[in-house]
Amino acid sequence: MLPYDYPVWLRAQLGLLPLAEVRYFNTIGSTNDHCLQWASEDAADLSLAIADHQSAGRGRADRQWVTRSGAALAFSLLLRPHRPEKELLPFFSPLGAIGIRAALDRLYAIRAEIKWPNDVLASRKKLAGILVENVWDGGDLKAVVVGIGINITPQALPSANRLLFPATCVASETDRPVDRWELLGSILAEMLHWRERLGSEDFFSEWSSHLAFRGEVVRISAPPAEDLIGKLTGIDQMGNLILETDPGRQVKVMVGDVRLRAV
Ligand code: BTN
Repeated sequence: MLPYDYPVWLRAQLGLLPLAEVRYFNTIGSTNDHCLQWASEDAADLSLAIADHQSAGRGRADRQWVTRSGAALAFSLLLRPHRPEKELLPFFSPLGAIGIRAALDRLYAIRAEIKWPNDVLASRKKLAGILVENVWDGGDLKAVVVGIGINITPQALPSANRLLFPATCVASETDRPVDRWELLGSILAEMLHWRERLGSEDFFSEWSSHLAFRGEVVRISAPPAEDLIGKLTGIDQMGNLILETDPGRQVKVMVGDVRLRAV
């Protein structure tokens, strides 16, 4: 496939970004699967796979992620982490969330929040999800694939009985016309900006200041461990969530397959 072998209308939004290669698919199984395979081939840093429809989209914890044609934004950005970034693995998921939040604010005046560890909420409903997957060679981190799925129109929303958390979409949260490819360009530009600051003070303050449920009592479920209930007070320098379970008693929750809900 040729570099930049993707539709001209998409090129208008992405052409100025320093992407290595862009692959656009009308339909594909999963853009994350595509990038994981691509990583084992010749993919360079900043390779991008985008799909209009995914037939086998994946969410966290092996959940299905439905991507209907014309209704969603689904893409995966493949990064080849350089030396300092290899020590900053927990921050690639918030990198996606920070990028989405900033772009929604800039383009559509949507004041979204970041639900730790890797969802984006608007009006306290899920608008976007992030699935980060890594490629290792022994102990060496070879690639990070940041997969992002965003509900654009109401048709993107899963049926109510499949929802773990209430959901919304970009079009329902703004009065402005929504162009998903413009949104894609803006998210990528924000991610490139924040990638330069990965794990920095600025990065933390951007993440913390948009953290959902801060100061509120939440429940953390990570079976088979018992649920934890406590006040969400913030995140630490490793990206762990800090809960105050009793006055003066703080517990750290590590990033993993946990569910966070308001109580
Ligand atoms: C989640 O909330 O569970 C994460 C959802 C991530 C979905 C995106 S859509 C693009 C990329 N390809 C996939 O198969 N999954 C991610």
